[in-house]
Amino acid sequence: MELGVNIDHIATLRNARGGDFPSPVHAAFAVLNAGASNVTCHLREDRRHIRDNDVKIISELTKRLNLEMSAEEDIVRIALDIMPKSITIVPERRKELTTEGGLDVAGDVKRYRDITGKFKFKSLGSVASAFIEPDLRQVEAAKEAGFDFIEIHTGKYADKTGTEDGAKELKKIKEAAAYALEIGLKVNAGHGLDYKNIYDVALTGDFREFNIGYSIVSKAVFCGLEAAVKEMLGIIKAVELVKFKNRLEKNS
Ligand code: PXP
Repeated sequence: MELGVNIDHIATLRNARGGDFPSPVHAAFAVLNAGASNVTCHLREDRRHIRDNDVKIISELTKRLNLEMSAEEDIVRIALDIMPKSITIVPERRKELTTEGGLDVAGDVKRYRDITGKFKFKSLGSVASAFIEPDLRQVEAAKEAGFDFIEIHTGKYADKTGTEDGAKELKKIKEAAAYALEIGLKVNAGHGLDYKNIYDVALTGDFREFNIGYSIVSKAVFCGLEAAVKEMLGIIKAVELVKFKNRLEKNS
């Protein structure tokens, strides 16, 4: 299990004073140096935090950009020009504070198949992921639309951690992840994950990567970005050890 760190909030801070500091490019290198596998940036249609130049430079210099993006034509065009390591298609609403729900792939499989096809067409293509709710119909549609990965939206679980509803959400995540693996998709998870609620999610399925932003950048205010990333990685590795031990016990 790996960690992708979303650094949009570094750009929010930079934009607050209209200058160059703190630099998202610097942040990208800091999180990678700390052991993250990828850097995630969401190039929003309103460019409220990350900007075109940020994603171009980060993709080019690190080769580890996961570009979160809507399926709008002009954003797709920019992404095709950059060809980041991976793209994650998310729904986008102008007024939302953060991505609010999963993508409705099932509602328009053809539209998404056209988009994933464009990214695979070029020889140095990007891996394509769909950010979806833990819903089997959406998992199936993501496969049909040609996505390589899904990223399961963990936001509802995160909002309800420790409650009965939280347990129900976790069950949905578990079932969606298992079904995705069964039909040949790779599975990431993200949204609202923090240093506590990550445990149960990480234990529940075979995830390739967690995409985490807000909790890591918030902790970084007090201890620095590299330390905040390392702490999260330590938790992920600890869960991996528990899973390994459980597997050994099951097989003995
Ligand atoms: N994954 C996706 C698809 C997202 O839209 C976001 C938020 O930008 C995240 C992960 C990270 O969420 P958080 O900032 O709550 O960790």
